[in-house]
Amino acid sequence: MLIKDRASVAVLVSGGGTNLGALIKAERQGSMPSVNIVLVVSSNSDAYALRRAESAGIKTAFIAGSGASFENELKKILRENEIDLVVLAGFLKILSRDFVFAYKGRIINIHPSIIPAFCGRGFYGIKVHEAALKQGVKWTGATAHYVNEIPDGGEIILQKPVAVLPNDTAETLQKRVMEEAEHLILPEACEIAAKKIMKEKLK
Ligand code: GRF
Repeated sequence: MLIKDRASVAVLVSGGGTNLGALIKAERQGSMPSVNIVLVVSSNSDAYALRRAESAGIKTAFIAGSGASFENELKKILRENEIDLVVLAGFLKILSRDFVFAYKGRIINIHPSIIPAFCGRGFYGIKVHEAALKQGVKWTGATAHYVNEIPDGGEIILQKPVAVLPNDTAETLQKRVMEEAEHLILPEACEIAAKKIMKEKLK
């Protein structure tokens, strides 16, 4: 359903979709008044995130392949759905410079570390937490940021710290960072970005 005083949001996923779950819950609870999640697009046809979207009654799409063909298909579906804001939530592809420039200021991402630590090419998912444990940091956390042409390089919107515990494994650390940081700051950052876009649009 199109609600025009809210930003139409597309969430891009590749995996379990716990961040998508947090966004859906936040929208239902009314903590994202400027956000209307209208589409979930996955790069992986088996992503459980697609099941989450379906049970929430949100339109879903799967786009196969990569590179220009993937991005052309993505641009088409975003245009068809009049998307204002793209949210990368566990989305594993790196978007091209062209794509990012076409959506300047309208793509945000959630990264499972306090950027600039443990970010950039090769740092995604559990690898981020393995690197944090290897480095022996006492604090890690999550960062919500705008997406630019540098992987994890865009303007930071919100960050939230999480303590590393002595007996943490990469798996226990990932779970705590998701629950105590990612799932809280992504909805907040989504509302900030959506509100800014709608303010511009309604000028
Ligand atoms: C997690 O490692 C999360 O930190 C990162 O993507 C991975 C999967 O997240 N953003 P999700 O459960 O698919 O949202």
